[in-house]
Amino acid sequence: MKSAEIREAFLRFFEEKGHTRVASSSLIPANDPTLLFTNAGMNQFKDCFLGLEKRAYTRATTSQKCVRAGGKHNDLENVGYTARHHTFFEMLGNFSFGDYFKRDAITYAWEFLTSPKWLKLPAEKLWVTVYASDDEAYDIWTRTVGVPAERMVRIGDNKGAPYASDNFWAMGDTGPCGPCTEIFYDHGPEIWGGPPGSAEEDGDRYIEIWNNVFMQFNRTADGVLHPLPAPSVDTGMGLERISAVLQHVHSNYEIDLFQNLLAASAQAIGCANDGAPSLKVVADHIRSCSFLIADGVTPSNEGRGYVLRRIIRRACRHGNKLGARGTFFHKIVGALAAEMGDAYPELRQQRAQIERVLKNEEEQFAKTLEQGLKILEQDLAGLAAKVIPGDVVFKLYDTYGFPADLTADIARERDLTIDEEGFEREMQAQRERARSASAFGLDYNSLVKVDADTLFTGYEETFGQGQVVALFKGGATVERLGEGEEGVVVLDRTPFYAESGGQVGDCGYLSDASGVRFDVRDTTKVGGAHLHHGVVAKGGLHVGQALEAQVDGSVRGATALNHSATHLLHAALRRVLGEHVQQKGSLVNSQRLRFDFSHFEALTTEQIKALEALVNTEIRKNTAVETEVIDIDSAKKKGAMALFGEKYGDNVRVLSMGDFSIELCGGIHARRTGDIGLFKIVGEGGVAAGVRRIEAVTGAGALDYLNAAEEQLKEVAGLLKGSRDNLLDKLAGLLERNRQLEKELEQLKAKAASAAGDDLAGSAIEVAGVKVLSARLDGLDGKALLALVDQLKNKLGSAVILLGGEFDGKVVLVAGVTQDMIGKLKAGDLMKQAAAVVGGKGGGRPDMAQGGGSEAGKLDEALALVRPFVERAL
Ligand code: SER
Repeated sequence: MKSAEIREAFLRFFEEKGHTRVASSSLIPANDPTLLFTNAGMNQFKDCFLGLEKRAYTRATTSQKCVRAGGKHNDLENVGYTARHHTFFEMLGNFSFGDYFKRDAITYAWEFLTSPKWLKLPAEKLWVTVYASDDEAYDIWTRTVGVPAERMVRIGDNKGAPYASDNFWAMGDTGPCGPCTEIFYDHGPEIWGGPPGSAEEDGDRYIEIWNNVFMQFNRTADGVLHPLPAPSVDTGMGLERISAVLQHVHSNYEIDLFQNLLAASAQAIGCANDGAPSLKVVADHIRSCSFLIADGVTPSNEGRGYVLRRIIRRACRHGNKLGARGTFFHKIVGALAAEMGDAYPELRQQRAQIERVLKNEEEQFAKTLEQGLKILEQDLAGLAAKVIPGDVVFKLYDTYGFPADLTADIARERDLTIDEEGFEREMQAQRERARSASAFGLDYNSLVKVDADTLFTGYEETFGQGQVVALFKGGATVERLGEGEEGVVVLDRTPFYAESGGQVGDCGYLSDASGVRFDVRDTTKVGGAHLHHGVVAKGGLHVGQALEAQVDGSVRGATALNHSATHLLHAALRRVLGEHVQQKGSLVNSQRLRFDFSHFEALTTEQIKALEALVNTEIRKNTAVETEVIDIDSAKKKGAMALFGEKYGDNVRVLSMGDFSIELCGGIHARRTGDIGLFKIVGEGGVAAGVRRIEAVTGAGALDYLNAAEEQLKEVAGLLKGSRDNLLDKLAGLLERNRQLEKELEQLKAKAASAAGDDLAGSAIEVAGVKVLSARLDGLDGKALLALVDQLKNKLGSAVILLGGEFDGKVVLVAGVTQDMIGKLKAGDLMKQAAAVVGGKGGGRPDMAQGGGSEAGKLDEALALVRPFVERAL
């Protein structure tokens, strides 16, 4: 069976068992700061297990994109060297949220694997592990399913702490967890390795293919296990591993999917396709890198971007080891898109972007690699021990961009290891330095915790009544806020929009009939509560008080126009630049809008014009801006653009401007596109590798911008004594005239210098038969002084000359010695001494030298040097 057929069979099997087929979620976990990348099928259901989220189904099945290259589950180091580890893999899973539990989970798995209708695996090839104390699972396996005791293994806490076990699965240090039962496949005695739990278990003979987790607990940061609201099931089977079993190969790299990727990798590198570990590394890494970029990650020096950078660099280095010349990695994307693009269309849509990001990163890395390798070689040459010290690893990381695992990789090839602890110590020290450098005050509002939800009434109105349900001062809850005090007010209902989705929070004021007033400077959100931040301008506030809430309508109105224009711009960008454009961030306030998006190069003037034209056309169509709240699947069917990494509930607010723009959005918008009036881009630039930023203005703001530009033009015209119509001619004429004047000035200066030269020649004195001359000439530049020295040399015969002066606030010095004298004294030496006096430097040839300094007050002292200099030399 092909991998694609196995994926489909799995999903279909569980659909037949009443499961809902759910799409893979993004590799960037939605709103989960505890997780670097999606690393298991259960991630997108975390809140369902915890009982925080209810869905329309209690059984689900997925084929989930996973990356395990950082955080708790990290396989990066093993990739290429074992038959079964990957940075990217697909996990087939079935899930029960408080529905079925151990018995069904076990029997479903067994049926799918062994039934003649499905995978038809021989039962005697399968081994099973259970958590040591899980008698219930053990009994189901042995009594109901009939697995003989000799192929059952109980595994306890074999990782040095309670619940730290191969058979107790946890998503991370916190979150859902529980005991598990794993199914292993015996690849046969010709492969080295022993059954799970034995001393040889790390061999490749017995491979775990399916993990069934009985989710029972939520582990909190203090290490305590709290029972989940309902026992649940989370299973995961690596598609690559089960494909290897069904395709009768023992390494994942021999399955259909990898055969093509390995061939494409060898071709891109220009090496033989001979199963070298490095080739496997490249074929593996192209998957994680491409999928991560498709999901919006770009290489950077921190967080997810840094992990991506590390993987790309590791791939590059392994390619280089195989003899790759120049860039090669991005050339494999096409083969990947062909192989997996049916199941994951984003690979085809984003292909150009993925290729560009990879190529750029490859080019950058080529520069640092060469230098870093040299340094490493030097350090290794002087190394007596078998461990590369932590400070060397850190230096390579910090100065040459060498990820520590890359250094570890190189070390491994030479039977060396790296001092990981030492490296971590250096890293920690650097973090401390960074922290102390950027220590700023604590934001007390981040401490505010509110249980109550605020009812938001602001889509329809900017005015409303509300009652104070909580007050905060300095992050602590208080009963009252007095006049002049700053704090946070929470109302039971409010028209104030709280900052989110890039749109800033509303400002305005809260008041009552008695004259109390609280000026709201900003509104934010914690949980479901809207926090009005500001200061009591008059009177006092107390919990329970009834207030009238008035949003500043003009600020809100201008903000709404910018928000709607942001949607039009987003849609226009995808039309003008391509489907690879993804939103990377946005900021919408009353002044302007800022939109960050993935794109690899600076926009051309034509592209910017095309964007403006397209957005303004949509504005002139005056389309109604419509919102509807529908379920997420219908929204997706409508083609609504959603943000990667953003978490949406079952029901979402869809905002449409005709067919041109359909996006999920909770923000405040214009009623019709025509309200925007005018859209004008005022800035375009890069913010990070592969991310561009556009800034724009709309409505009255756009008019202000154009008026200001026009004012400036008028002023310029006034200065040029012209009008807008003849401005360019006037300016060109002025520049030409300026050039002429500069030329004339040069000529005049030369003439003046020549005349001055005649005068100066007369002031030379004679020292031991040589003419010695020093003079101060302010206002001449170095070039003019050089010409003068030349001229004086001709006039004076045997001579030593030092001229100096102030020019543009600095001291300029030129020294000259005639040819017949350079055997005895040199202009360069004279200049060194003279320049040092004026606090600068100088030097040159024996017959002519130039220098300067900053201390004009000492110029005369410097010029006086020449006579003693000559006397000493002769
Ligand atoms: N979450 C478990 C795992 O990743 C089973 O899906 O192994």
